[in-house]
Amino acid sequence: MVCQSLAFFNLLVVTHIIFFGSSNCSAIDTLSHDNWIRDNTGKTLVSAGGRFELGFFSPNGSLAGDRRYVGIWYYNLSPQTVVWVANRDKPLNKSVGVFSIRDGNLKLLDTTGKVYWSPNLPPYLSSNLTVKLMDSGNLVLSEDKQSAVSLWQSFEDPTDTFLPHMKMDKSLNLISWRDKDDPGKGDFTFKVDEESEDDFIIIRNNSVPYWKSREPWLKGRFEVIRYVLSNFSTLAQPTISVYSNLTRFTQSSDYDDTRLVIDFTGQIQHFKWDKETRNWTPLFSEPKDICSVFNTCGNFGSCNAENRIACKCLPGFKPSSPEQWNAGDFFGGCTRKTILCSGGEDTFLSLKMMKLGTQDSSSPVDNEAECRMKCRQQCQCQAYSFEKSENSNRRRDTNVGNGSCRMWYSELNNIQEEYVSGGRNISVHVALSDLGTEPCPVYVLRML
Ligand SMILES: *[C@@H]1O[C@H](CO)[C@@H](O)[C@H](O)[C@H]1NC(C)=O
Ligand SMILES: *[C@@H]1O[C@H](CO)[C@@H](O)[C@H](O)[C@H]1NC(C)=O
Ligand SMILES: *[C@@H]1O[C@H](CO)[C@@H](O)[C@H](O)[C@H]1NC(C)=O
Ligand SMILES: *[C@@H]1O[C@H](CO)[C@@H](O)[C@H](O)[C@H]1NC(C)=O
Ligand SMILES: *[C@@H]1O[C@H](CO)[C@@H](O)[C@H](O)[C@H]1NC(C)=O
Ligand SMILES: *[C@@H]1O[C@H](CO)[C@@H](O)[C@H](O)[C@H]1NC(C)=O
Ligand SMILES: *[C@@H]1O[C@H](CO)[C@@H](O)[C@H](O)[C@H]1NC(C)=O
Ligand SMILES: *[C@@H]1O[C@H](CO)[C@@H](O)[C@H](O)[C@H]1NC(C)=O
Repeated sequence: MVCQSLAFFNLLVVTHIIFFGSSNCSAIDTLSHDNWIRDNTGKTLVSAGGRFELGFFSPNGSLAGDRRYVGIWYYNLSPQTVVWVANRDKPLNKSVGVFSIRDGNLKLLDTTGKVYWSPNLPPYLSSNLTVKLMDSGNLVLSEDKQSAVSLWQSFEDPTDTFLPHMKMDKSLNLISWRDKDDPGKGDFTFKVDEESEDDFIIIRNNSVPYWKSREPWLKGRFEVIRYVLSNFSTLAQPTISVYSNLTRFTQSSDYDDTRLVIDFTGQIQHFKWDKETRNWTPLFSEPKDICSVFNTCGNFGSCNAENRIACKCLPGFKPSSPEQWNAGDFFGGCTRKTILCSGGEDTFLSLKMMKLGTQDSSSPVDNEAECRMKCRQQCQCQAYSFEKSENSNRRRDTNVGNGSCRMWYSELNNIQEEYVSGGRNISVHVALSDLGTEPCPVYVLRML
C-alpha cells in the first residue's frame, strides 16, 4: 500500500488525530498509548520522511507465518535490509504478534498476552506514552507527544547495526546475527576496546579477541569509522584516505546512506547505498582474511593466507600444543625449542616484509649493528627491527641516530609474512642450535 501524501499524515500526527487503519494508507510514524500494530494486517510505522519502516517480518528462509520478528528496515528498499530487531532471541511461531504500548511500557505480545519483548524499564504510569520512528532509524519511546524526553531508544539498544547519529560508547554493543537468516544473538560482539577507549574490538564467544582496531597496520584506514562511531565528534576530522576513491565524506549528512554491521561471520562492514546500481557498496571490512584475525596463528606463529595451511611456527619454534595445532586450532601458538641464554650461542633469524604486533620500545641508533647488539644483550629481547631514518644522509644531530631500533620483549604476536605494503624487516632472537646443524645466521622464511 502506498501513501498518497506523506505530508497529509504528518499533519494528522501533528494535530494528534489518531489515525488507524480504515484508509488504504497505513503509514504513520507514531504509536500512542493503547494503539497497536498487529501482525498480518500489513500495518507498519513509516518515518516521516519515508526512510525507515517498522513492522513484522520473517527472515529469508522461513515459511510465511513462521518465526515472526518485529524489526526496522529501510523503507521501500530491496532486498529488505533489517537494521534492528526487537525479539531477536524469541520469535513468534505464528503471526499472532501485537506491538503496542501497554501498561506503561512498549511491548511485543501475542494474543494471549505473553510478552516476547519489552525495553528494560520500570512501568511508566502515564497515559501519554508515545513511540515514534525517526528518519534516522531511531525508535524513541517518550512520555510526551513531542518526543522531547526519551525513556528508551533503539539507538541505545542496537542489534548488529550501527546507524549514523548513534554513538558507540562503553554502554553499547553490537552483536552479530547467529546466521544469515537468524537474527538471534551470534558469536561476535563489536564494542569499545577496554584497553583504549578510542579503539574498538571484535570479541568471539564473549571472551576471545577476534580483531582489534588498534593495530599499526590499520592506521589511517580506520579513521573514518572512528569518526562515524563517535557521532562525528572525534576531535580530528579524518583524512579520508580509504574513501577518497568514492565520495569525499566531510559532513555528517554524507553518511546518511551508510550503515556499519557486525556480520554473522565476524566481519565489521561499512556500507554505502549506491543509488545508481541500487546496491550496498562495501567501503571497509575487517578482518579481511584469516591473517587479519587477531593473532590467528598464536604467539610466534606466522600467517600466510596463500599457503594451504595458513599457520606455521617460525623457524626455531614448535607448536605449544601439537595436538591442537595438528587439529587446525592455531590460537595456542608456538614456543621456543630452546630458551634464550640457556648456555648455548644465539643468533638472529632475518625475516623480510613481515607484519607484527606493536613493539615494546623504539629508540634512535646509529646503525643496525647497534640495534642488534642492544637486543643480543638482553635475554628477554625477542626480536628487533632497524629502520633507516629518511634524512639519515644529512648531518647527524647529536641526539638523533641514523635510524630507529624497535624491540619486542613480549612474545611476538600477529605475525604475517609476505606483507607487501608496510611490512618490516625483523630479526628474531633465537638459539643457534635451533636453526639446525648448519650455521645459518641469515634465514629467509620465504625460502622454506
Ligand atoms: C532471500 O533469498 C533470495 C533467494 O534465495 C535472494 O535472492 C535474496 O537476495 C535474499 N534476501 C536477503 C535479504 O538475503
Ligand atoms: C516455537 O516452535 C518451536 C518448535 O517448533 C519451539 O521449540 C519453540 O518453543 C516455540 N516458541 C514459542 C515461543 O512458542
Ligand atoms: C498527559 O498530557 C497532558 C497534556 O500535556 C497533561 O495535562 C496530563 O497530565 C498528562 N497525563 C499524564 C498521566 O501524565
Ligand atoms: C548525535 O548527534 C546528533 C546531532 O548532533 C544528536 O541529535 C544526537 O542526539 C547524537 N546522538 C547521541 C547518541 O548522542
Ligand atoms: C564458541 O562457543 C561455541 C559454543 O559455546 C563453541 O562451539 C565454539 O567452538 C566456540 N568457538 C571458539 C572460537 O571458542
Ligand atoms: C578506484 O581506484 C581504482 C584504482 O585505483 C580504479 O580502478 C577504480 O576505478 C576507482 N573507483 C572509482 C569509483 O573511482
Ligand atoms: C650515520 O650516518 C652518517 C652519514 O651517513 C655516517 O657518516 C655515519 O658513519 C653513520 N653513523 C654510524 C655509526 O654508522
Ligand atoms: C628490508 O630489506 C631490504 C633489503 O634486504 C630493503 O631493500 C628494504 O628497504 C628493507 N625494508 C625496510 C622497511 O627497511
